Amino acid sequence: MPNVLNTPAGRAAIALALTAAGAGLLMLVFGIDAYNWIKAIHVIAIIAWMAAMLYLPRLFIYHCDSEPGSRQSETFKVMEARLTRIIMNPSMVIAWVLGLWLAFQADWFVAPWFHAKLTAALIMSGVHGYFVGAVRKFAEDRNDKSARHWRIMNEVPTLLMIAIVILVIVKPF
Ligand code: HEM
Repeated sequence: MPNVLNTPAGRAAIALALTAAGAGLLMLVFGIDAYNWIKAIHVIAIIAWMAAMLYLPRLFIYHCDSEPGSRQSETFKVMEARLTRIIMNPSMVIAWVLGLWLAFQADWFVAPWFHAKLTAALIMSGVHGYFVGAVRKFAEDRNDKSARHWRIMNEVPTLLMIAIVILVIVKPF
């Protein structure tokens, strides 16, 4: 029988449970200060998520230049799969859970800047899904996109990240 904890859904469930337990513990220990602690962990998760989202398309660019079946290509497959599984997926789940917790706590859902941030975060998550699909295609030697395509895609998370950080810190509207 396959180990359910070793599936993407299983790992997402573990990340969720650990995040919820950690958030609960922080609230118990720090009471009202929990907001700032949760925000700090949210930002740490965002840094990990963004690091992976910026590095993965770089790996795709190099992967495009390596012969399918070559040792180099197989190494890229392992790097892409580990980056996705160990860093990118769990950090996205944690960023979402804690970000939504912050929004509920401070009632940010009424703020126009937050609507814009949420939209940008949803697009970022869509790009995340697209990258995960590409990892799967590369793993089966079925990538049909050029290095130039991945070079352009590399800029999408960068631009979204700049917009989100300005929205959340300047809160221009
Ligand atoms: C995934 C969905 C996300 C949700 C629901 C969310 C929600 C939130 C909320 C409610 C806050 C607290 C705002 C405040 O107290 O002023 C916050 C803080 C922050 N978020 Fe997010 N966020 C998400 C994703 C992101 C992303 C993708 C980035 C960056 C690329 C980001 C960067 C930040 C930063 C830098 C702060 C700290 C701002 C400050 O207090 O000065 N968040 N987030």
